[in-house]
Amino acid sequence: MLSFASLRHVFVYILLVGPRVFASDKYIAAVYEHVVMLPGITLKPVSSEEALKLMNKNMDILEKAVKGAAKQGARIIVTPEDGIYGFRFTREALYPYLEDIPDPQVDWIPCTAPERFGSTPVQERLSCLARHNSIYVVANIGDKKPCNHTDSKCPSDGHYQYNTNVVFDSNGKLVARYHKFNLFMVEHQFDFPQEPEFVTFSTDFGKFGLFTCFDILFHDPAVALVSKHHVDTILFPTAWMNVLPHLTAVEFHSAWAMGMQVNVLASNTHSCDLNMTGSGIYAPDGSRAYHYDAESKNGHLLIAELYSHPSLSPTHPSSVNWSLYATTIKPFPEDHNFTGLIFFDEFTFSELTKEAGNFTVCQKDLCCHLSYKMTEKREDEVYVLGAFDGLHEVEGQYYLQICTLLKCGSTDLKTCGQSVTTAHTHFDSFSLSGTFSTNYVFPEVLLSGVQLAPGEFQVLSDGQLISQNGTSKPVLTVTLFGRWYEKDPPHLHIYSSRIL
Ligand SMILES: *[C@@H]1O[C@H](CO)[C@@H](O)[C@H](O)[C@H]1NC(C)=O
Ligand SMILES: *[C@@H]1O[C@H](CO)[C@@H](O)[C@H](O)[C@H]1NC(C)=O
Ligand SMILES: *[C@@H]1O[C@H](CO)[C@@H](O)[C@H](O)[C@H]1NC(C)=O
Ligand SMILES: *[C@@H]1O[C@H](CO)[C@@H](O)[C@H](O)[C@H]1NC(C)=O
Ligand SMILES: *[C@@H]1O[C@H](CO)[C@@H](O)[C@H](O)[C@H]1NC(C)=O
Repeated sequence: MLSFASLRHVFVYILLVGPRVFASDKYIAAVYEHVVMLPGITLKPVSSEEALKLMNKNMDILEKAVKGAAKQGARIIVTPEDGIYGFRFTREALYPYLEDIPDPQVDWIPCTAPERFGSTPVQERLSCLARHNSIYVVANIGDKKPCNHTDSKCPSDGHYQYNTNVVFDSNGKLVARYHKFNLFMVEHQFDFPQEPEFVTFSTDFGKFGLFTCFDILFHDPAVALVSKHHVDTILFPTAWMNVLPHLTAVEFHSAWAMGMQVNVLASNTHSCDLNMTGSGIYAPDGSRAYHYDAESKNGHLLIAELYSHPSLSPTHPSSVNWSLYATTIKPFPEDHNFTGLIFFDEFTFSELTKEAGNFTVCQKDLCCHLSYKMTEKREDEVYVLGAFDGLHEVEGQYYLQICTLLKCGSTDLKTCGQSVTTAHTHFDSFSLSGTFSTNYVFPEVLLSGVQLAPGEFQVLSDGQLISQNGTSKPVLTVTLFGRWYEKDPPHLHIYSSRIL
């Protein structure tokens, strides 16, 4: 029987949500961590044939990953930044690897119309990979765009070179093109676009947005894609060099997904020599699959299921006020404090001398509160609570507010903040919170062996990062990594090709 009331519910449902969007919709996603085959080190440009030969070797490997992902039902696969030709280039040496990538509005399937925009063999092959395997393919390649004196910013060699993400849909059509905005310091071979690009596309399994590597530390375009453009999933090719204790790939990227309450498909380059490893399929309530391998020289395919519309899903976390708890409680006593460096930033630390306790550590406007209980206070390991409120100025300028519990390098307090990958101390419980001036805070929990802890901790709506029953492995760090974007200096133009 259908009552009038229930009919009305159905009607309202269709009006509000549309006929095809259901909270329970899911899809299978894939990311591939790739050992990129690099060109020889040379300042002289190679021929375009030689460049294509190297790119085809990398695409041979990516092709296997695409086929494997499609066989397992994946709708989309993300491959890493620089995954097709590497990163050892001067501006001139990169040129033979570049193609002119048109605006996706041209409605183009390179696989079926390969000659339409000149010589574009890489786009053709990627498009065919997508089309022949009926899967969306996300790749990172190089775009070249001619310019001349009518443009005062035109580089002296008469063209722009962009670090570019492209997406081909399951018919092989080019549906997205994104030029990286926040270039990392060593990317002298590239120009950045004059304005950040907010690139999105919609599918029957959600709305997608994309950006690249270092972009994740800044507001534009990364945060705006989520807060203004309301994407469901971020596509994130990266060539990420791990920096402990707070900026290791799996740790930071999964924390960003949680803090922004969005899915993130993060595909990293794999190079143990360069400390590049760590890819994952991350949901707002934790990692669905991740890969961290600092030993082998192998690539790795990850597959996992995600909600198409995480904000409508039953597991979607409630929104968080990151300073609510910390600003309402009475601060705990501040113990003896000292300073130490984490990745060039001077933190204020306080040692956790007892098995259990309540501590507050402050720096400038930020006070960090910790309540904890260790299973056992070991003599051979030292943990501290730390606070930092300031502008980070090495390898990029960005304003941070950080509360962190971490294991020191040794029992010497001078080693607090150094890179540590293993620990033996278990915590029965912890609660970390801070009086943040920003509501962009990324919650990190990293365990011994550089492992994540999905499902073993929670963020409460009042901003406490808690674990009530402890974690499965000993703790390396528990951190609230806050970004106060309003305090950032303006986007730096010092890396533009006209100056270099
Ligand atoms: C200069 O560049 C503009 C824009 O790319 C183009 O329309 C124009 O034809 C170019 N002029 C010359 C003299 O090459
Ligand atoms: C990789 O990480 C280790 C440990 O943190 C560090 O000693 C080494 O210098 C790093 N290598 C590179 C290439 O940055
Ligand atoms: C969070 O709570 C604090 C304290 O009640 C309040 O001042 C602040 O405006 C809230 N922040 C947000 C983003 O709602
Ligand atoms: C240590 O804490 C005290 C408050 O107990 C504060 O006045 C002092 O500035 C702190 N020292 C450092 C190095 O942050
Ligand atoms: C920490 O504070 C809580 C109340 O906020 C209290 O119940 C607990 O006993 C304290 N723990 C220690 C070790 O002082």
